[in-house]
Amino acid sequence: MTSTAHNVPRTTNNAGVPVESDEHSLTVSPDGPILLQDHYLIEKMAQFNRERVPERVVHAKGAGAYGFFQVTNDVSQFTRADLFQPGKTTEMLARFSTVAGEQGSPDTWRDPRGFALKFYTQDGNYDLVGNNTPVFFVRDTIKFQDFIRSQKRRPDNGMRDNDMQWDFWTLSPESAHQVTWLMGDRGIPKTYRHMNGYGSHTYMWVNAGGEKFWIKYHFKTDQGIDFLTQADADRIAGEDGDYHRRDLFEAIDGGNAPSWTLYVQVMPFADAPDYRFNPFDLTKVWPHGDYPLIEVGRMTLNQNPEDYFIHIEQAAFEPSNMVPGVGPSPDKMLLGRLFSYADTHRYRIGPNYAQLPPNRPHVPVHTYAKDGPMRYEPSRAARPYAPNSYGGPAADTLRYGEPAGWETGGEMVREAYTLRRDDDDFGQPGTMVRQVLDDAARDRLVGNVSGHLLNGVSRPVLDRALQYWRNIDKNVGDRIAHKVNGG
Ligand code: NDP
Ligand code: HEM
Repeated sequence: MTSTAHNVPRTTNNAGVPVESDEHSLTVSPDGPILLQDHYLIEKMAQFNRERVPERVVHAKGAGAYGFFQVTNDVSQFTRADLFQPGKTTEMLARFSTVAGEQGSPDTWRDPRGFALKFYTQDGNYDLVGNNTPVFFVRDTIKFQDFIRSQKRRPDNGMRDNDMQWDFWTLSPESAHQVTWLMGDRGIPKTYRHMNGYGSHTYMWVNAGGEKFWIKYHFKTDQGIDFLTQADADRIAGEDGDYHRRDLFEAIDGGNAPSWTLYVQVMPFADAPDYRFNPFDLTKVWPHGDYPLIEVGRMTLNQNPEDYFIHIEQAAFEPSNMVPGVGPSPDKMLLGRLFSYADTHRYRIGPNYAQLPPNRPHVPVHTYAKDGPMRYEPSRAARPYAPNSYGGPAADTLRYGEPAGWETGGEMVREAYTLRRDDDDFGQPGTMVRQVLDDAARDRLVGNVSGHLLNGVSRPVLDRALQYWRNIDKNVGDRIAHKVNGG
């Protein structure tokens, strides 16, 4: 029998029964075969074989922390949402991530970053699942799966492929704004602490009087925006694949809690039909000149997870978790996402994912849902059906009815959004290149794009890519062409 060291707890099996050894299996004599009745050995092997849940199909590599959100400005005229009321502080969880890379991929690959937030409000969980960019590559949910496959691995050789990426992007010109953003400095943030977060979609806010507004969320980093050059990112990818995960953990561990200030842009509900471009198109921003930023509050991340797997890997964010005072808009991407996330959680984690520590609301749950694998919260409904006359929970339609939506009607069609005067794919990225970037940032953009194109992009995709950049900005497109053609 192996002796037990002093002052440490006795090892037990999963049932709490003390175990004899973590060094020797039970065998018939020291040199003989191992025995099936060594249940502890079998438990160890079986548990190990089941340690992984499937990785997220996108955003697999990430890092996260707990914190709180504090309201600093009165926006109650726009929303009745509990977490945005004056004086409120709400506990929250954040997870940042890359998009295309797998669990073990380097943090410093060029990619948008996920910016997923879960607020544990008095009215249940509010999940705001955004990115560090205000726009996206496509504007219809039906193209999302194709877009992601073009960024992941080829079926034949199992490798990522720039040719595939540019093939998709150039055949989908609505990607131009997000691609310009991605190829610029913000495509590789210095750390997760040095990037902004955006809700990206347009959402609806509803105030206590039932008045509706269209809004966009902007979380601006209080650490200041900073980025890595392509050369630095490539070097770090080899030296420390977990660079961003480590930075977040160590900053919080060292008492250096990062924070972000939340602003919203607010569009009066009546402005939407006549605005010069579709305000629900996810490939567009609302210019600040038209709709200025209004401060709301500050989020601070001050607590690392006690156990990464439990709190971050099993975290399940879902844009469909909306609270009274917040609603969706007619953005075709957002409406698709309202289905997708809960569906993937049921597959990735299991049907009772909402009961796990990072996902369970901080208010009592009174649902008629019951049973299923790994359920451990008892059903609080005395009878498992509604309505019942045994004191079961009853819906409060007056107080908690869905925020009233928008008017809609017409034929069922498969068509693009109706075009408005300023609806084009290249205008806003052109503005970014010409008016937002300075000379040095434009030089780095030209270098980043040409480097990417010279890495495995073949004709005619390459020619299409050069035309795509000339459509964004003639001068930048010519400079990229010059470099790619050996200039
Ligand atoms: P503004 O001059 O008011 O805003 C420009 C925005 O660009 C700022 O929010 C700034 O963010 C952001 N920015 C600065 N450098 C970069 C970069 N290298 N990559 C990406 N974004 C950067 O002008 P408009 O509101 O009229 O927008 C002009 C263009 O700016 C848009 O066409 C769009 O491409 C881009 N943009 C606009 C945003 C918006 O919500 N209106 C948000 C982000 C980009 P910060 O202040 O945090 O540094
Ligand atoms: C993760 C689907 C667009 C931000 C995911 C996941 C799926 C998904 C299936 C994996 C979730 C998991 O396993 O936990 C979709 C679909 C989209 C879409 C169908 C378009 C129709 C977007 C957009 C944004 C976004 C536009 C940002 C504005 C995120 C983030 C995560 C994520 C941040 C990671 C969440 C986490 O940290 O757990 N998405 N997505 N997605 N998505 Fe999307």
